[in-house]
Amino acid sequence: MTMRKKIVAGNWKMNTTVSEGKQLLQDIIKLLGGTSEPADEVIICPPFTHLYAFKPFLSDTKNIYLGAQNVHTEDSGAYTGEISAIMLKDIGVDYVIIGHSERRQYFKEDDILLRQKVEQALKHGLKVIFCVGETEDEYERNHSEHVVKRQVISALFTLEPDQFQNIIIAYEPVWAIGTGKTATPDYAQKMHSFIRGLVKQRYGEKIAEGTTILYGGSIKPSNAGALFQQPDVDGGLVGGASLDAQSFVEIVKQIS
Ligand code: PGA
Repeated sequence: MTMRKKIVAGNWKMNTTVSEGKQLLQDIIKLLGGTSEPADEVIICPPFTHLYAFKPFLSDTKNIYLGAQNVHTEDSGAYTGEISAIMLKDIGVDYVIIGHSERRQYFKEDDILLRQKVEQALKHGLKVIFCVGETEDEYERNHSEHVVKRQVISALFTLEPDQFQNIIIAYEPVWAIGTGKTATPDYAQKMHSFIRGLVKQRYGEKIAEGTTILYGGSIKPSNAGALFQQPDVDGGLVGGASLDAQSFVEIVKQIS
C-alpha cells in the first residue's frame, strides 16, 4: 500500500548544554540500539551549537539523522546572528525545521519568509520538516482547516513536484504544544487527512500518498500509540518528551 516513511523527530528547542546534549544523544542511541527501528527514520534536532559535535556519534548508527531548528534565507553575508543552509549542509545536517509555531509567534516569521526559507533549504540539499497548525483561538472559531490550508499552500505549493518530495509536513495545533493538551487521535486524523487531500489536489495521488505527515503537540509515551495508529499520522515531532531518552525511545517504539 502506502510507501511513505514513518518518522519520529525530537525538537530539543533551546535546551541542554553541549555536554548535556551529548549525554542525552548517547543515551538515546543506546536505548534505540543504534537504529531508528521500528521507525524508518529518527531525526534529532538540537540547538545549532550541538550539531557539529553530534555528527561523529551518528557514524555507526542506522537511519538516525540530524536536523537544525532554523535556517536563514541567504547563502552568506551581513546577517549577524544567522546560520545559512550551506553551513548546515557542510557539517552533515540532513534536515531543518521551518515554520515552527514558536518562530511564527515570537520571531514574527510569516508565510512569505517561510516560503523563502523552504526554497533556500531545498536549494542546498537540506530536507524540510515544515510545521503548520492553528492557534487555540482559531481552533475555537472553527478556522483550523482554513488556517492550515493557507499555511501549506503559501509556503509549499509553488514547489516543483520533485522538490516537494523532500518535504515532511508536521501538523502541530498550537494549543497542544507544550500544554499537555494533546489532540485526540480522531482530530489529528481528520486534520492529517485534510492536509493529505490538499497535497493530492496539487501534486496528485502518488506524491500525496508518499508524503510523511507528522503530528506534534504534547506527544508522550502514553498517547503516542493511539496517534500513530491513525492511518494518516506517519509519526511525530516531539518537544518536551524528546529531552528524556527513555520517553523519547518509548515513543519511537510505538511506531507501527
Ligand atoms: P511538545 O512540543 O511536544 O513539547 O508539545 C512539540 C513541538 O513544539 O514540536
